[in-house]
Amino acid sequence: MASVSTACYSHICTFVFFAAISIFLAISSSAATEAGQPRLPFKKIYAFGDSFTDTGNTKSITGPSGFGHVSNSPYGSTFFHHPTNRYSDGRLVIDFVAEALSLPFLPPYRNLKGNGSNGVNFAVAGSTATNHEFFVKHNLTLDITPESIQTQLIWFNRFLERQGYCKDAASECKAAFDDALVWVGEIGVNDYAYCVGSSIPDDTIRKLAISSFTGVLESLLKKGAKYVVVQGLPLTGCLPLALSLASEDDRDDIGCVKSVNNQSYSHNAVLQAKLQGLRRQFPQAVIIYGDYWNAYREIMKDPSRYGFTEKFNACCGAPGEPYNFDIFGTCGTKSAIACKNPSQYINWDGVHLTEAMYKVVSNMFLNGSHSHPPFSYLLDRKNKEG
Ligand SMILES: *[C@@H]1O[C@H](CO)[C@@H](O)[C@H](O)[C@H]1NC(C)=O
Ligand SMILES: *[C@@H]1O[C@H](CO)[C@@H](O)[C@H](O)[C@H]1NC(C)=O
Ligand SMILES: *[C@@H]1O[C@H](CO)[C@@H](O)[C@H](O)[C@H]1NC(C)=O
Ligand SMILES: *[C@@H]1O[C@H](CO)[C@@H](O)[C@H](O)[C@H]1NC(C)=O
Repeated sequence: MASVSTACYSHICTFVFFAAISIFLAISSSAATEAGQPRLPFKKIYAFGDSFTDTGNTKSITGPSGFGHVSNSPYGSTFFHHPTNRYSDGRLVIDFVAEALSLPFLPPYRNLKGNGSNGVNFAVAGSTATNHEFFVKHNLTLDITPESIQTQLIWFNRFLERQGYCKDAASECKAAFDDALVWVGEIGVNDYAYCVGSSIPDDTIRKLAISSFTGVLESLLKKGAKYVVVQGLPLTGCLPLALSLASEDDRDDIGCVKSVNNQSYSHNAVLQAKLQGLRRQFPQAVIIYGDYWNAYREIMKDPSRYGFTEKFNACCGAPGEPYNFDIFGTCGTKSAIACKNPSQYINWDGVHLTEAMYKVVSNMFLNGSHSHPPFSYLLDRKNKEG
C-alpha cells in the first residue's frame, strides 16, 4: 500500500513539474501585461493558523505570553514601515502566497474591511490546536489566548453564513470553495510551548493537538474545501527561545535543540499519516503538505546560500544576552533593540522569523522543493477543473 502511493507520488511529481512552471510563468506574464484581466488560479484564500500566519487578528493582551508587543515598532519596519500586528519585520509566508497568486494581502477576520471576497485570514497568534479549556484545566497559565483552531473554524462558519454561503446544507457551500485556496499555517507549536515545565507528556500533547487539528480539517473538507495546503511544524529547536531554555548538551548536528526538533519531527510524522488518511477519505480534494521542518533545516545547513549571515541570534531583542534574547525584554519593549540588517537574520524576535526567512520558505513551498505533492500539482488540478 505504502509503496503504491509513493510510486504514485513520484509519478505525479514528474508529470506535473513542467506544467507547473508554465502556469507560474502564465501568472506572472499575464499579471505584467497591461491589457486584459489576468486569469488567476484562485479568487480567494482562507487561512488558518497561529502567529506565523496571523495578519492582524491578534489582540496584544491575549497574544503569546512574552510577545505581546507586536503593535509596537520595530514590528513591521521592513515592508509595511509600521506595525501591522504581524509577528515579523515584514511579510509572512501567507503574504508571499497571496502575492504569488496575484491576490491582495488577506484581511484579518476580526478587523475585516470589505466583504472578504478575496479571502479572509482566521489565524490568530497564540492559538493552539487543542482547545483552550485543556490548558485552563491543567493550570497552564502561559496560555492566555482563548482562541484555538476550533475557534477559527467557528469564525469561518460565521463568515460563510454572513456571506450567504452554505444556506442549504446539501449544497456543500460549493461557491465558497470552488475558487478558494485553503491555507492552513502551522499550528501546534504553542500546544507544546504552553506545557513546558508541566508533567504532561509529549505523546499526550501530540495526540490531543493532532486529533483536534484533524477534526477541523475534516470539517473543512466535508464542507467542500478542494485545494488545501497544510504546513507542518517548523524546526522549533532552532528558535532562540528554545536554545536559551534547553541545556547546552541538548543539541543536534545543526546546533539546535535536539529534543525540541525531535518533538516537532514526531508531530509532523503523525500529522502526515493523518493527511494520507484524509486524502483517501476525500479523493476529490487536493491536500498538499508544506514541509516546514525540512525547508528550515535545508536553510540552516547552508544559510549563506539564502543570504543569511546569522542563523541563531534573534534580530530584535536583548543585545548581550545569549541568542540576543531575553523573555523579559522581548522585541517591541523599551529595552529591546533591532539589528540593522534583518534580511541577513533567520530569526526576528526569538520565536518568529524574519520576512527574508518567510520569503525563502514560501518559495520552497510554492516551487515544490518542500511541498508534497508539489504545489504545482494543486495548480494543475485547479486548472483542469476550471
Ligand atoms: C465585494 O466587494 C467587491 C469590491 O468592493 C465587489 O466588486 C464585489 O462584487 C463584492 N462581492 C460580493 C459578493 O458582495
Ligand atoms: C489548579 O490550581 C487549583 C488552584 O490553585 C488547584 O485547586 C487545582 O488542583 C490545580 N489543578 C491541577 C490539575 O493542577
Ligand atoms: C525522538 O523521539 C522519539 C520519541 O518521541 C524517540 O523514540 C526517538 O528516538 C527520538 N529521536 C531522536 C533522534 O532523538
Ligand atoms: C525553490 O526555492 C528555493 C528558495 O528560494 C530555491 O533555493 C530553490 O532552488 C528553488 N527550487 C526550484 C526547483 O526552483
